[in-house]
Amino acid sequence: MIRTPLMTVMVDAVMKAARSLKRDFGEVENLQVSRKGPSDFVSAADRKAEQVLREALAKARPGYGFVLEEGGRIEGGDTQNVWYVDPLDGTTNFLHGIPQFAISVGLERDGKMYAGVIYDPIKDELYVAEKGQGAFLNNRRLRVSARTDLADCVVACGIPFLGHGNHPEFLRELGTIMAKVAGVRRMGSAALDLAAVAAGRCDGYWERNVQTYDIAAGLILVREAGGFVADADGGEQMMQKGSVVAGNEVVQRELLRIVRTASKAG
Ligand code: IPD
Ligand code: CA
Ligand code: CA
Ligand code: CA
Repeated sequence: MIRTPLMTVMVDAVMKAARSLKRDFGEVENLQVSRKGPSDFVSAADRKAEQVLREALAKARPGYGFVLEEGGRIEGGDTQNVWYVDPLDGTTNFLHGIPQFAISVGLERDGKMYAGVIYDPIKDELYVAEKGQGAFLNNRRLRVSARTDLADCVVACGIPFLGHGNHPEFLRELGTIMAKVAGVRRMGSAALDLAAVAAGRCDGYWERNVQTYDIAAGLILVREAGGFVADADGGEQMMQKGSVVAGNEVVQRELLRIVRTASKAG
């Protein structure tokens, strides 16, 4: 486990927000829900957890910048240290009572991802990573999988929401990938998908139409676990382009090749 002062700040904030989320998950049928898009929901649980994270992080590190899923980018903060906060990644699952969701907090320093914490409150799984210090799940050091034969591999993906993204392109990618791998999963939390790659549970993951706060923490987690990440064009602009292809070296390379071909075929 990493015990730097920064990690303590991040983990404490995330654990506090987790208590709020767990309470709300217990009475999800009473939550106020609204829509940001045709299938893009937000609830009082998202907002409350975000408030807890924002207050705790701002108190511990005054002046750091913020990009919050619900509150947006807060102007006037430090641009060298920026928090990327997703208070509830997997809102659709949460609102359906499906116990697969997480809190995700990433810290960008001087334009690069520096630290990340992802917490799955249902499984009580805490993923942490800080640049140069490795990635951990609870107290166990993480390493991406060593599988190289695609026929042995399980790959996670995200399906674009209704009204967002290019479904035919996604289906071309899916068709090619599912014909080569042992299994494809759509689990519903981008943060936990990246965490699963870092933990070696999934061998790869790809998704387009993601936001900075969906992937910020997961990117550093995968890298610190020895994995590889790129945007859908093979570059390093995951946060700017909102696409991600991750995995161990071999699986990531192969997924990237397929994803790039699928976009050209459109
Ligand atoms: C969503 C989840 C989902 C992914 C979407 C995200 P939210 O985040 O991470 O797995 O496919 O792209 O928007 O809205 O539940 O925080
Ligand atoms: Ca959302
Ligand atoms: Ca999210
Ligand atoms: Ca969210």
